[in-house]
Amino acid sequence: KIIVLDFGSQYNQLITRRIRDMGVYSELKAHTMSAAEIKAWGPKGIIFSGGPNSVYDSSAFNVDPEIYKLGIPILGICYGMQLMAYDLDGGKVEAADNREYGRAEITVLSDDAKLFAGTPKQQTVWMSHGDLVTQVPDGFERVATSENCPISAMQDVDRNFYGIQLHAEVRNTEYGNDILKHFAFDVCHADANWSMDDFIDLQIAHIREMVGDKRVLLGLSGGVDSSVVGVLLHKAIGTQLTSIFVDHGLLRKGEAKQVMDSLEGKFGLNIVKVDAQDRFLSKLAGVTEPEKKRKIIGNEFIQVFNDEAQKLDGIDFLAQGTLYTDVIESGTDTAQTIKSHHNVGGLPEDMHFQLIEPLRSLFKDEARELGEKLGMPSDLVWRQPFPGPGLGIRVLGEITPEKLQIVRDSDLILREEIKKAGLDRDIWQYFTVLPNIKSVGVMGDGRTYDYAVGIRAVTSIDGMTADFARIPWDVLQEISVRIVNEVDHVNRILYDVTSKPPSTIEWE
Ligand code: XMP
Repeated sequence: KIIVLDFGSQYNQLITRRIRDMGVYSELKAHTMSAAEIKAWGPKGIIFSGGPNSVYDSSAFNVDPEIYKLGIPILGICYGMQLMAYDLDGGKVEAADNREYGRAEITVLSDDAKLFAGTPKQQTVWMSHGDLVTQVPDGFERVATSENCPISAMQDVDRNFYGIQLHAEVRNTEYGNDILKHFAFDVCHADANWSMDDFIDLQIAHIREMVGDKRVLLGLSGGVDSSVVGVLLHKAIGTQLTSIFVDHGLLRKGEAKQVMDSLEGKFGLNIVKVDAQDRFLSKLAGVTEPEKKRKIIGNEFIQVFNDEAQKLDGIDFLAQGTLYTDVIESGTDTAQTIKSHHNVGGLPEDMHFQLIEPLRSLFKDEARELGEKLGMPSDLVWRQPFPGPGLGIRVLGEITPEKLQIVRDSDLILREEIKKAGLDRDIWQYFTVLPNIKSVGVMGDGRTYDYAVGIRAVTSIDGMTADFARIPWDVLQEISVRIVNEVDHVNRILYDVTSKPPSTIEWE
């Protein structure tokens, strides 16, 4: 296995992902881990990730200097390379005259450049840096160069230390996977023997050890992630698991019944269904600010759990379907906040449970693969993602029962038409939103002044980036006609044609 130390780049979990895709187990860990702890974890290699700091910042992230004496190969990527040059004797890091973001061409200078073996001399890479290494540390040689970054890669074959300024983990780096493969297999001699089955075994053992004979409460949203966690926990600890399914009044049409039928009916999970619509809606009344809405929904969720847990005896753990994308976008110790995902940022300080989040290191597509391995039916596993705060973040501005009704009814029509057109597997996520605007229309002979409904449909692999889906015009027309005809108080349909970035998938 290979350990990746986190210095705060938004891409750092992608490094572990690429390594796992090669069949080598990998995890992202805090850069504050001591050399002794790393040694005890037993990695065959260590990767220092990128990060937004300069090594000269007073608050710059560091590593335990003893790491360099462990005899374990190290690869520094971007900030990680700069940190190596800064830490090791003879190296030098300086601010670049020309900051470099995006595509760049590098030239590989040596036939013995170990990480570039078998790749062309000229290749396209992805760079994103302000500082750069201007002098390699003693014992290192420069092995690649680019116009704005004279030392794009360096190596010390004797000590097995490697540094690359380019981001090998992003797809825009043409031979990025080869570079990581050379490090994992040629340098670290890692074994490609890891698969999702191992992940299941590992997690089950870990959950059993952690939980002992205690009991666990699961917040079941009915979405893919918490359902997968439910089935995984049920497999690990059986009846020690109680699931709570909160109907917060922000669910899609027919959703509550569907969830109960499949998870309780088919999988035998013990589910307590709580009808908490009034609680949520009264707390949300008059609130318009998106982050505030998210925090209220997140907090209320935990309150409901607390109330329910008190009715049950001896619950010590709370399980959640948090994915890596939720973690990174809510901000970590090292990365910036984009949005507070409700199962992460909304947790109150005085929570009485210990958390279990078995999917915390996985991306969505990995969670789906896990679900299939657990024998879950594909219509459950391939459900489109649905956010914890539900329709609450699809009604923009203040949430009212009337507006929720419009989103719920229009969303069902959209889902029916997308399915009818056979597009439900191709489009990653599709839903309607209610932007808080009314406009003038004409129906029959009369003037109308009613709401516009937005359609959001995206293709994506992991939710981190997304492109708007190209729904054929005739399908869109059918959807538009049906929503305006069948949903009261709607007289206009909008189609969202932005990608993520610069937008996000949800509108709030
Ligand atoms: P954004 O809007 O951030 O969404 O581009 C990325 C993916 O995450 C889902 N999402 C959430 N999921 N809790 C969740 O469990 C949340 O608070 C949350 N906010 C967004 C969103 O639906 C999309 O799939």
